Amino acid sequence: MSAVFLHASVQEEILALKRERKAIILAHHYQESEIQELADVIGDSLELARKAKQFDGEVIVFCGVWFMAETAKLLNPERIVVVPEAKAGCSLVDSCPVEQLRAFKQRHPDHVVVSYINTSAAVKAESDIICTSRNAVQVVNSIPAEKPVLFCPDINLGNYVKQQTGRGNMRIWQGACIVHATFAARRLTATKMEHPGALVAAHPECPAEVLAMADYIGSTSAIIEHCVKSEAGEWIIMTESGVRHSLEKGAPGKKFYFVANENCNCSECPFMRMNTLEKLRDCLEGLAPRVTLPVGMMERARLPIERMLAL
Ligand code: 13P
Ligand code: SF4
Repeated sequence: MSAVFLHASVQEEILALKRERKAIILAHHYQESEIQELADVIGDSLELARKAKQFDGEVIVFCGVWFMAETAKLLNPERIVVVPEAKAGCSLVDSCPVEQLRAFKQRHPDHVVVSYINTSAAVKAESDIICTSRNAVQVVNSIPAEKPVLFCPDINLGNYVKQQTGRGNMRIWQGACIVHATFAARRLTATKMEHPGALVAAHPECPAEVLAMADYIGSTSAIIEHCVKSEAGEWIIMTESGVRHSLEKGAPGKKFYFVANENCNCSECPFMRMNTLEKLRDCLEGLAPRVTLPVGMMERARLPIERMLAL
């Protein structure tokens, strides 16, 4: 059986199971194209959090990484939330164990804790407000200027927010994304020399020296919207290469170049790419792996997300 035929039949199974289960498929822009093609909604972490809340079916299939599915569950406690691959984690989540955050809060009880959505539900439950890469500046600006802030866990996004807000009283956790943090300015320089007419769009999880070279900085969806709408015909994209799918659909005549990262010579998130069509079908069929969280933690973790959504 050819791979193409095999995929076509898996896709049909997924669509039939989706109807049967009254499910919605949410996919992050970093998913494989074949998964994005089947999704009801494709988006960045903020858009998917919002969509998860508006949906009125019974099952949410979250094609992304575990913390994103946890967020969907927090906003939809009565719905079943499943993921294709339970091991699809995130280096930012791993860089902020909840015990360490609790210890920080004991030492610095006056700090307002702003946590990036790329954190565990347990960390969210210890946070005052959540942010995403799209609204981090707005979230920090919403906190009274005299209050000290802890921004966790992404050091690059934190530094970018500090620079944009001019906030002196902001401490930043030392976590990083294993994909964006290893995008190197010297490789970007080499790519710019190959494509001198191209502009640069970067995700704020990139190092400061990469952001300093960017013509546009934004979340994954913001990058897609900006590059599709802009007059420029060529872009160097400093984020995960899954965004190519929507970029090329939105602007078929334009050219998009991706810069490999230092560690794996690619620009793919190894966690996001654990999801496959077959795993997507199996999770719809078996309604597992399923996100379950303790009720008390869910209540405490939902509050800072709702504060963000209300902004
Ligand atoms: P977005 O907020 O742009 O979706 O980013 C999430 C993420 O994991 C980036 O690596
Ligand atoms: Fe986490 Fe980075 Fe992967 Fe995003 S790209 S899910 S921040 S490891």
